[in-house]
Amino acid sequence: MALYSDTVMEHFRNPRNVGVIEDADGVGEVGNAACGDIMKIYLKIDDGIITDVKFETFGCGSAIASSSMATELIKGKPLSEAMQLTNKAVAEALDGLPAHKLHCSVLAEEAIMAAIKDYYDKNGIEYDEDTFKKYSHSHS
Ligand code: FES
Repeated sequence: MALYSDTVMEHFRNPRNVGVIEDADGVGEVGNAACGDIMKIYLKIDDGIITDVKFETFGCGSAIASSSMATELIKGKPLSEAMQLTNKAVAEALDGLPAHKLHCSVLAEEAIMAAIKDYYDKNGIEYDEDTFKKYSHSHS
């Protein structure tokens, strides 16, 4: 069996939503200390809906495929829904990742949450700190 699914390879070769949103409403940057990979997510938010999302990933192929898939999964969705996105859902949408590459999809989940938190902080929107607690180890 191939190490990577066709979906992973396809998103790695043709990543969706690559780039920067200059006037983003929320930006999240996270890194994995072990592999040194970095992921940055930009969100455009209108009335609680993610109207646009872009990413820059300096990392491995799985991290690029994960960011591509994750941005596709949250585009056009309400924030409440984007916050439910787990790395497991990203990996499943990619038709699986090798076990030692699952942390790459975790970066995507963390970067999205960091971007949403940034949006809340910038706009003085109140939120439950617990929601982001498990992400607090991520640097920004
Ligand atoms: Fe670290 Fe993929 S090897 S993000």
